[in-house]
Amino acid sequence: MTDTAEPTVFFNPLEPGYTENPWPHFAELREHDPAHLSPIERWFLFTYDDCARLLRDPALSVDDVNIEFHDEARVAMFEAAFDPEEATRSMLGLDAPDHTRLRRLVSKAFTPSAIAALRPMIEERVDAALDAMEARGSAEVIGELAFPLPFDVISEMLGMPEADADQIAQWSSALVKTLDPIISEEEVNAAADAERKMGVLLDEVIAWKRANPADDLLTALIQAEEDGDRLTSRELRAQVQLLFVAGHETTVNLIGTGIYELLRHPEQAELLRNDPTLDANAIDELLRFVSPVQFSRRITLDDITFRDDTDQPKTIKKGMFVMASLASSNHDPAKWGPTAEELDLRREGAGQHLSFGSGSHYCLGASLAKLEAQAAIGRFVRRFPNAAVAGEPVWNGRINLRGLERLDVTL
Ligand code: HEM
Repeated sequence: MTDTAEPTVFFNPLEPGYTENPWPHFAELREHDPAHLSPIERWFLFTYDDCARLLRDPALSVDDVNIEFHDEARVAMFEAAFDPEEATRSMLGLDAPDHTRLRRLVSKAFTPSAIAALRPMIEERVDAALDAMEARGSAEVIGELAFPLPFDVISEMLGMPEADADQIAQWSSALVKTLDPIISEEEVNAAADAERKMGVLLDEVIAWKRANPADDLLTALIQAEEDGDRLTSRELRAQVQLLFVAGHETTVNLIGTGIYELLRHPEQAELLRNDPTLDANAIDELLRFVSPVQFSRRITLDDITFRDDTDQPKTIKKGMFVMASLASSNHDPAKWGPTAEELDLRREGAGQHLSFGSGSHYCLGASLAKLEAQAAIGRFVRRFPNAAVAGEPVWNGRINLRGLERLDVTL
């Protein structure tokens, strides 16, 4: 399944210090083995051009049934832990025509006007969080702002009944660990347990919502009917779970790590504070710089050759799992020039980052995430010009949805 060229470096995200600072690892791989076959039977692409091509190629799949080369140890752990009958089939893991059908149904709730209508509610929630911080003179940014904002917004959009937020947060945190390329048996078991429990809760919520329809996304999905095509109950549960988890586990990293980076780059925070016209570009640049989702995946349906214009062409066989390093692409000097590793809120073309992926699976929540981040980061920076990091921030230890778990600040 491999090419003949010997790799000179290995991608090892378990190396100590990786989550805190993965960037030098990417730089080394871009230079020495940009299309990299890892011992876990996965290819990794590290340059912007290769990743963009992979994500945009309609001849590739996202459906795991097409994988022919497996990491046997990983498969065995998943088969032992997850019930295949209950497997979640969200649009993120489905190809056309199922993907097209499900995405069209869900997209109806994410039109530009529907998202713009959320602005007052989002700003109100941000201001309430900032008021509480100001009254105290200090804050823990993740627990008080970066996490609750997207969590509450997606809960409200869906029309979830008041639920045990801590419990749900714990389940979704266990679930997203399965997006990491390397995972322990204990983590797989915790994810399967979380999926079962979340499934029971979501079934209860959906049943309750069927009896109590309202003006919300969950009701819209329940009632969705297009070309005579309803969502089956399992499809419905899978899309709701995807929206719920994708709706907050990613944006928390943009807001939390984004604020952290601005505190580490006070001259950039100052630019943003003084120039409201910078808001949109600043969020794109922070998306590029922190890359809240570090990898996206595709499965080859045919042999495909990358880097054939170089002296290191690599042919990836049909049926391989390929990971595009969005984070490495976002820091690739071949795309971004010599300042690729610098934060520059005025960067031209910052919006060409791959943080929301690309192609037919491009993030459905991109404009919602940007709206939340603009409100949270812009207002935080303007309200607290003297904010400073207090003590060491705590990283969440995740390889894919990398971000901070705790960020203490003085105001
Ligand atoms: C898909 C990133 C926020 C819903 C994706 C993908 C990425 C991504 C990389 C996969 C794209 C691909 O494979 O080509 C992010 C980031 C976010 C964010 C960085 C925040 C900063 C959100 C929010 C929601 C959301 C707030 C919903 C409320 C989705 C959905 C998909 C998706 C439904 C699947 C789309 C499909 O398969 O067609 N996102 N996301 N995301 N995201 Fe997001």
